[in-house]
Amino acid sequence: MGRLENKVAVITGGAGEIGQAAGALFVAQGAQVVLADLNEDRLRDAVAAIGGNNVSYAVADVTRAADNAAMVAAAEERYGGLDIFLANAGVEGKVKPIPDFDESEFDSVLNVNVKGVFLGLQSAIPAMKRRGGGSIVITSSVAGVEGYANVSPYVTSKHAVVGMMRSAAKECAADNIRVNTVNPSPVEGRMISSLNSGMGELVGIGAEDLKAASMAGIPMQRYGRPEEIAQVMLFLASDDASWVTGSVYLADGGNTA
Ligand SMILES: NC(=O)c1ccc[n+]([C@@H]2O[C@H](COP(=O)([O-])OP(=O)(O)OC[C@H]3O[C@@H](n4cnc5c(N)ncnc54)[C@H](O)[C@@H]3O)[C@@H](O)[C@H]2O)c1
Repeated sequence: MGRLENKVAVITGGAGEIGQAAGALFVAQGAQVVLADLNEDRLRDAVAAIGGNNVSYAVADVTRAADNAAMVAAAEERYGGLDIFLANAGVEGKVKPIPDFDESEFDSVLNVNVKGVFLGLQSAIPAMKRRGGGSIVITSSVAGVEGYANVSPYVTSKHAVVGMMRSAAKECAADNIRVNTVNPSPVEGRMISSLNSGMGELVGIGAEDLKAASMAGIPMQRYGRPEEIAQVMLFLASDDASWVTGSVYLADGGNTA
């Protein structure tokens, strides 16, 4: 018996590294899953990589209310309801000091990472009420609990969703809807490579040297793997976490200890 039998999940950023790992684990644990992301080819590849009949996709831009409504409607139409919403789509933005950011660069990060989550909640909460409850998991970051120089829009956005989560947890508790964040440290993959390149350029250090230095600063001396983040998401999504709401779950190798 899987831990998500008879549950239906929507995962935004579902074609990305963490989103796809969560999708694969949720399906393996018995869920039916809609992966939502921007690019249809990458979504098709993610669905094929997970395989089986319990995963499908919805092309969606989380910054658009209509797309959020459509991905939730897809889950209800295809699988009969919505139990789990993993608000995971995110962008890292540029790496530079605060005075050098264009207003549009700040807006584009906040649009995806904050407004995109808010619009997702606006569609997911009514669907979960129709179902009698559910679990919302928002992907924040270690950058949601501490500051990092030169990535201020990203850090701002990841702190903002912690506040959003706490408010939603209080607002939705009576409807049996739990809301939590997962806050990873760097995870091997595209996003941290992009950030390390940007940081390296700014401070004149090669991306590989920067990576080695940043891993050395993590007590467990390495970056995480998408599957390790997905396991924490699975716990929060499942009924094993039935008394857990309004919480910040660090998955960070001891980084913020
Ligand atoms: N990778 C890390 O080191 C790390 C660490 C902490 C937190 N996170 C967070 O984890 C989440 C997943 O990141 P990842 O590591 O899988 O990165 P990723 O870049 O592989 O995945 C992010 C996905 O979000 C999608 N996306 C971006 N804008 C979107 C939009 N407007 N609408 C729909 N989808 C959109 C992208 O297409 C991509 O597939 C993000 O919220 C990220 O901030 C990542």
